[in-house]
Amino acid sequence: MSSMPSLRAALIPVLIALACASPASAAAPASTVPRPDAAPPTESQAAFDARMRWWREARFGMFVHWGLYSGAAGRWNGAPVKGSAEWIQRNAHVPSDEYARQMLPLFKPKPGFAREWARLAKRAGARYLVFTSKHHEGYALHDSAVSEFDAQDTVGRDLVREVVQAARAEGLKVGLYHSVIDWHHPAYPYRDFARLEQPLPHPLEKTAPADDPDYDRRANLKTYQDFLQAQVRELIEHYGPIDVLWWDYSNPGAEGETWRASELMAMVRAAQPGIVMNNRLYRSLGYDDPQGSLRWFDRAHGDFTTPEQAVPAQGVAGVDWEACLTMNGTWGYSALDHDWKSSRELIRTLVDTASKGGNLLLNIGPLADGSVPAESVQRMQAIGDWLRRNGDSIYASRANPLQPVEWGRITASGDGRLFLHVFERPANGELRLRLPGTRRARLLDGGAALEVRRDGEDVLIALPPRLPDADDSVIELRAQADA
Ligand code: GLC
Repeated sequence: MSSMPSLRAALIPVLIALACASPASAAAPASTVPRPDAAPPTESQAAFDARMRWWREARFGMFVHWGLYSGAAGRWNGAPVKGSAEWIQRNAHVPSDEYARQMLPLFKPKPGFAREWARLAKRAGARYLVFTSKHHEGYALHDSAVSEFDAQDTVGRDLVREVVQAARAEGLKVGLYHSVIDWHHPAYPYRDFARLEQPLPHPLEKTAPADDPDYDRRANLKTYQDFLQAQVRELIEHYGPIDVLWWDYSNPGAEGETWRASELMAMVRAAQPGIVMNNRLYRSLGYDDPQGSLRWFDRAHGDFTTPEQAVPAQGVAGVDWEACLTMNGTWGYSALDHDWKSSRELIRTLVDTASKGGNLLLNIGPLADGSVPAESVQRMQAIGDWLRRNGDSIYASRANPLQPVEWGRITASGDGRLFLHVFERPANGELRLRLPGTRRARLLDGGAALEVRRDGEDVLIALPPRLPDADDSVIELRAQADA
């Protein structure tokens, strides 16, 4: 007993730290351990938390996959090609020159496309926009001095500048997806990319050997890695503040240092000290295992991890994470994929992600002229409509601090409120939670007060006969004293 006050005193800084820490780390048990051989982070926890703050509060971003593949729209020479549409060059085994010859004439960005994207993201309630500056096909959307396979040389426009400026004009944070895989570049090291590029010899391999020491004397670039670094330098030095660098991606056999990853990351951090980067430059278990069982996490490899096409069942313990997701089955535009997720599913996925302490990066795949498929626009608008009424339960929210519930999800605010997301109304019209104290409940949309009573250790909240939202009606629950 006598140890109680001192124990409490000892706990106070811990509790304060928990209250101020990221949603992910506040809710998560420290079960994701640092990588055993990792050097201690050079950045303090406080500086890291400050840098991550906007990203953690944003909770929802819009992803855009757009490049030459958008013009193929899922077909090669008229025939449907299986697989995600932005992989069409690889999946249809098209040599780079032939690919460029057929695809370049189809890529015709319409004026103002970037403003449409940025307005859509804003309308959807997304707080940031991440788009492909270069995908695996190797085509750069910016004005690159080290390549002619870029937008400036082929369409006479710097498309990265257009998108970055449009995003900023809408008050959005902006990020660049950048692929280290490059099927166009003559010195790209296919052979190192064992798993991805098997069987060898690779059908896309050019005549120039990967180890040609002098492939581009003009630009004084000796290796693909030099080229990669030169393009990334252009991207981080020519467009003002860039908020996110979304690397994609390393594989077993071609992990981090194959790409001179630590040098690349140091270069990016020096030019953009506030930037947030994912960890895909290194092999990431969070990426390899969509269920999110991340055995270790090394902050030197990036700030957050990126489960793909799935929300990990338990979130990713102790680590910042962002689930990326398509609305149909492909990242790049396909005219053949009509398998759209419903708005309800997408809204609930956003809520599910937030309830586990993560961000959602939801993808659109515009057509070759930059226009966004109507199905994607409708879904983004539906999410935006829902967020306008219920955004308080998502932005800056924390993971569910209680047990999972059958009727929906729970998110929390930093100031002790709980948001009860009702997906399915329980048959008896009541929500039951094991919670101490007196509580007050109201519908977040409209503010109608709901009856709350205690039953032993539980709190019971009576639902109104009609819930306002068939996708997710949110109830705000707060301690009586705060009400
Ligand atoms: C994978 C795919 C790629 C897509 C990305 C999005 O890396 O190769 O096509 O861009 O995931 O997460």
